[in-house]
Amino acid sequence: MRTNYWNLLLAFATFVPVMLFSFSWFCLSRMAEMSNQLTNCKNHILEFKGHILHLQNRSKNNHEQLMKALSEMQDEVSQRKNQSRNLDEKKRDAPSEGEIVSNIFEDFKFFLPHLRKVKRIYPKVIIGQGKTGVSFALGVPTVSRGNYTYLKQTLNAIVTRIMPWEEKDSVVIVSIADSNGDYVKSVVDMVTKRFKRQVKSGSLEVISVPDFFYPSMLHEEPMDYSQRKKRWHIKQVLDFCVLMAYAQPKATYYLQLEDDIIAKEMYFTKLTRFVNNMTSNDWLYINFSVLGFIGKLFKSEDLAGFVHFFLMFHKERPIDLLLDEFFHIKICDVGEKLEKCKERKREIQVEYKPSLFQHVGIHSSLPGREQYLKDYFY
Ligand SMILES: *[C@@H]1O[C@H](CO)[C@@H](O)[C@H](O)[C@H]1NC(C)=O
Ligand SMILES: *[C@@H]1O[C@H](CO)[C@@H](O)[C@H](O)[C@H]1NC(C)=O
Ligand SMILES: *[C@@H]1O[C@H](CO)[C@@H](O)[C@H](O)[C@H]1NC(C)=O
Ligand SMILES: *[C@@H]1O[C@H](CO)[C@@H](O)[C@H](O)[C@H]1NC(C)=O
Ligand SMILES: *[C@@H]1O[C@H](CO)[C@@H](O)[C@H](O)[C@H]1NC(C)=O
Repeated sequence: MRTNYWNLLLAFATFVPVMLFSFSWFCLSRMAEMSNQLTNCKNHILEFKGHILHLQNRSKNNHEQLMKALSEMQDEVSQRKNQSRNLDEKKRDAPSEGEIVSNIFEDFKFFLPHLRKVKRIYPKVIIGQGKTGVSFALGVPTVSRGNYTYLKQTLNAIVTRIMPWEEKDSVVIVSIADSNGDYVKSVVDMVTKRFKRQVKSGSLEVISVPDFFYPSMLHEEPMDYSQRKKRWHIKQVLDFCVLMAYAQPKATYYLQLEDDIIAKEMYFTKLTRFVNNMTSNDWLYINFSVLGFIGKLFKSEDLAGFVHFFLMFHKERPIDLLLDEFFHIKICDVGEKLEKCKERKREIQVEYKPSLFQHVGIHSSLPGREQYLKDYFY
């Protein structure tokens, strides 16, 4: 019984340390494993943190790059805006003459096939200093009337009744629509002698319409009076179109005059006051005279449209009737009764009363026609 006890005790005494040893070994190895795992875990976390930092760095870099690109884009946009503004300003300050001019004159080719082979479609500038950027251009077409001429009288009123302080902002253009060399010379002599100061300052110009502008049928000798009359009207349309196209880039407004009219005292002051007093820009032309086409004021920006229209129908109607048609097309509604539209037209057309211009001529530029009526005839 005692041996059994010792045996048991011995066995126990050996077993317990072994147990303890293996347990602590087990514990130690577990701990090492766990520590390994912890280290691993820590490494993972560090690595993760690295990734995050890297990502953060990248997104920061990306953000910076994006901001840089954005600001570059904004710079470019503002630069473009600036450029186009600068360009606009330049355009306003000095209308790029060659460009606009050649554009309207180039358009003559559409309507006048005989001009298609002409290299440079432009009137001949006899007196002029290229005055441009003014508010008002006044167009005075002139043709020989045989022994009778009213041009001197007309120009005297037109030019001297523009006050010296108003002269800077205007240009008067005399357009000789006559191939008669003597007539051209007489006009140029008269202008240079009589209006020295205005010629010198550039506020009075003289141009002439070269023969090539006219289709061959205008060069042929007309058969009878009605044919002569028709050709006279066709030529007048072309002459006015040349003058309008020439004047277009020079001024903001264009006033159509003639070579046989009288302008009233202070007419220019009254006219400019009236124009500057307009509250709306919604008008086609302003009527400063009861006479057909005389004393009609246009916005230069509209002139190309008018010239196209006049050229398209230059064989069909005299120019003042074409103006009327243009107005009708612009304001009459489709299906609206003509009477109704005419009534409306009377209301909306802009007129200055009383008339600032009237005829002086009795002798028309159409030979054989005397106009005692102070108005045009058809
Ligand atoms: C962040 O990026 C910059 C440039 O790419 C680099 O110089 C820097 O060392 C990076 N920093 C970190 C923490 O990745
Ligand atoms: C815009 O144009 C003006 C005039 O040419 C120049 O002085 C200015 O520096 C320009 N500004 C920018 C943002 O390009
Ligand atoms: C112009 O006047 C001259 C002489 O003064 C005359 O011989 C000629 O017939 C006149 N011409 C016209 C078209 O009236
Ligand atoms: C300017 O317009 C106003 C109102 O439209 C008018 O009463 C005035 O008479 C006008 N002045 C001139 C100079 O046309
Ligand atoms: C111009 O005004 C007058 C009235 O002052 C008028 O009789 C004439 O028809 C008008 N002409 C045009 C083309 O508007």
